[in-house]
Order: sequence, then C-alpha cells, then structure tokens
Amino acid sequence: MATVVLVGTQWGDEGKGKITDFLAEQADIVVRYQGGNNAGHTVCVDDEEFRLHLIPSGILYPDKLCVIGNGVVINPEVLEKELVSLRERGVPMARLAISERAHLIMPYHIYLDELEEEKKGARKIGTTRRGIGPAYQDKAARVGLRVVDLLNKEIFRQKLENNLADKNRLFEKVYGAEKLAGDKLFEEYAYYADLLRPYVCDTSLLVDEAISKGKNILFEGAQGTLLDIDHGTYPYVTSSNPTAAAAALGVGIGPTRIDKVVGVAKAYTTRVGEGPFPTELHDELGVQMRKSGNEFGTTTGRPRRCGWFDAVIARFAARINGLDYLAVTKLDVLSGLPELKICRGYRYRGELLTEFPADLSVFGECEPVYDILPGWDEDISRARSFEDLPKNARAYLQRITELTGVPVALVGVGTKRSQTLVQVDLF
Ligand code: GDP
Ligand code: IMO
Ligand code: MG
Repeated sequence: MATVVLVGTQWGDEGKGKITDFLAEQADIVVRYQGGNNAGHTVCVDDEEFRLHLIPSGILYPDKLCVIGNGVVINPEVLEKELVSLRERGVPMARLAISERAHLIMPYHIYLDELEEEKKGARKIGTTRRGIGPAYQDKAARVGLRVVDLLNKEIFRQKLENNLADKNRLFEKVYGAEKLAGDKLFEEYAYYADLLRPYVCDTSLLVDEAISKGKNILFEGAQGTLLDIDHGTYPYVTSSNPTAAAAALGVGIGPTRIDKVVGVAKAYTTRVGEGPFPTELHDELGVQMRKSGNEFGTTTGRPRRCGWFDAVIARFAARINGLDYLAVTKLDVLSGLPELKICRGYRYRGELLTEFPADLSVFGECEPVYDILPGWDEDISRARSFEDLPKNARAYLQRITELTGVPVALVGVGTKRSQTLVQVDLF
C-alpha cells in the first residue's frame, strides 16, 4: 500500500493526466487537491482522447473513487459539462466525491479575471480567464462561497447577495464596467446544488480512513512547481500551491500520511501565458517542437512556448517537492534531433547562477548555460522497456538524474497507456 503525490515540475502541461491515468490502474482513490478548471489533463485510452479539467484523471477506470478535495476551486457549470460529456461517452459516474469545504468559482470571478487582465494590458499574466485568481482571492479574504454553503439555500442566498453587491460596486466604480445581473443566478445555483449534493461529503475523513485501511491513494497535482504562488515565477503564477506539500492541506490529511512524491517532467520545457522562460527557443526549432509535441493548450488552445530542458528548475522542483522519482514524458518528441541541450546553470551579468533566483528581473535576464548531448534517430514510440531505448536516449535520462539528483521511475514515449516505460514500481 502507498500514498503517492504526483506534481508538475515545470510550468504545467508536463503530462500529469497521462501519468495519473497510467498509475491509477493500481490506485484505489485518485484525488485532486488544488487548482480548478485552469487545468487541462489529457488522457488517451486506446484511440479515444479525454480532456479533463476538474474531475481526477482516474475516472476512466470503472472501479476507482475520484475525489475533489477542499483545496480545489469548483465551477459547478464546468463540472456539470464534464460529467455530462463523460456520461455521453459511456463513463459511469457514481464514483465521485466532492469536498464540502471546496470553494466555488462564481460568474463574478470569471468576469473579474477578464477585467483585471484587460486592465493590466501589457503587464497581463496571461491567465486562463477561468476565474481562478479571484476565487482564491475571496477564499483568502474570507468571503468565498463553499460547497457546503451551496447546499444551504438560505445561507447561500444571503452570502451571494452580499458578494454580488460588493462585486458590482467594484465593477462599476473601479473598472467602469457593466454590473452583473443577479436575478437568475440564485435559481441557477439551486440547480447546481441538486446536481452536486449526491457527491458531497467529508473527503478528508474519507481519504484518511482509506489510508488507515491500507488503500493505494494517488494525489494528482494540477499546474506545476514554477506556477506555485509561493515558489514559482511570481507574479506569473497561478493562485494556488501546486507543489507536493499542498496535497496534505488540499485534502485534509497530515503530511506524515504521504509516502512518495513523483515529479512529472517533460523531456523539454513548455509554458503558456506570460513570464520569463530562459531556455525558450525563438527559432525554427521551437516551432518544430511545438508541432511534433502538439504543444497547444488543452484548456485555452493557446500555442505553448517551447524550449530545452532546464535542469536548474528541475533541481529546484526536486527540493521544493522533496521528489523521490521523476516521470519523464514526451521523450519521443526529441527523436531525430541531431543534438540535445540541457540547461545546467544560468549566466547573469557574467556571474554563473546554479539556483533559481527569486527576483524575476534577474531571472528574466538569465542566459542558459548548456550541456550538449548527442541525439538519436530511432523512433522510440514502440519501446516498451528502458532496455529498448537507444543508448543516447538512456544517456539523456541519466544526465537529467545526475543534474537533479532524482532517479527516473517512468518514461513516456507516446500518448497511450502502453507507451509508458516502467523502471520503478510506485505502488
Ligand atoms: P497535463 O496538464 O500535465 O496533464 O498535460 P496536458 O495534457 O495538458 O499536455 C500533455 C500533452 O502531451 C497531452 O496532449 C498528452 O496526450 C501528451 N503526452 C503525454 N505524455 C506523452 C508522451 O510521453 N509522448 C507524447 N508524444 N505525448 C505525450
Ligand atoms: P495543467 O494542470 C499550464 C497558467 C496560465 C497563466 C498562469 C495563471 O494543465 O498543467 P490562472 O488561470 O491559473 O490564473 O493562470 O498559469 N496555467 C497553466 N499553464 N498548465 C496548466 O494547468 C495551467 N493552469 C494555469 O497560462 O500563465
Ligand atoms: Mg494541461
């Protein structure tokens, strides 16, 4: 039995959905602990592709319990769409549990996200405009609406009226924008209350009891370490903590209940949205990587910025998350490149930096210092074990381990379940 936390080690989209789905076969429960529908986790089962935003990526197995923990922000409209879409595709839905303590994303959060991005203009963060930041803002300001409020009509009506009045003052007076009509909102959310009610429970208790019974639990992080509000490229981050310690908080278990932490790292690096990215490729190679890696956002469809693997941030992620293992995805995308680069340090005004700096103006000026490794020509998408990989591909993985201090447990060589090579069993 084991409890395993899976986290993104870069700027998100590392392939967490695929690895979660792969590991979920051995898990009893799969838990989301932070973020919301800013996440887009792609899972391919046979020839079918599923894009999950809120529901944990374990849902495609008929016998797994999927939990949305208290640390997640839930847009009930999106949850409904996702439930309906999965049901239409034949995925049974009885195995979902939603925390009564999770906060709700309301229409005024989405409106505010948009207004704030517009107001920032050139300084915009490039958010997914899903209302994530404003929802976490209300949580911290202690005016958020929680799932438990939704289930109590009177309390919900009162809190909603108060919040809407406050937000409308803000929209009008600060942003010079239209007010948000509230008349239909209450009925709409009464409908969502009925939709969510059967799934709502004390998910902290549920997960804690399952751990005591020796069940296998998989915690599925969203976003990535460099998008963490404390440890990432602030302010170009999301408004939650995607890092491993947040798994305990975001479901309500003690940190001593976590056995292993696995970092998912793409074999190169991508980023969507604004903010510095030292190993970004602005040339034809960057365009080629985007094409061969199909690097377009799962949630917003935006083209992802592409660049070489950055071992400075990967080593930083190893420290912040206490990584036991790495799962390196999309190694197949690098096939055919004559040489591969791995960033092992930054040059900043003549000085060599080996740690990720807090000051973004410094990070923005960092020039990568690269190790150059030979590439491989073989198509590795049919590899089924580490031994099937060409020598240079294994050397590339070995170099990542040397630079990060973390052994590689899993390697992705394609989008399908069968295209995951296992070096270490995690459950
Ligand atoms: P997540 O947000 O971390 O779950 O990642 P996304 O789903 O947003 O983006 C990862 C993309 O890469 C998806 O389209 C996956 O299907 C795809 N993918 C995952 N692992 C691999 C791999 O090993 N090889 C290839 N070629 N594609 C992969
Ligand atoms: P998954 O789970 C990649 C980025 C946005 C923006 C910043 C803030 O699929 O890896 P937000 O809407 O959260 O306020 O946006 O964070 N971002 C992601 N980038 N993958 C994600 O999720 C992301 N979720 C948010 O592009 O730069
Ligand atoms: Mg994604």
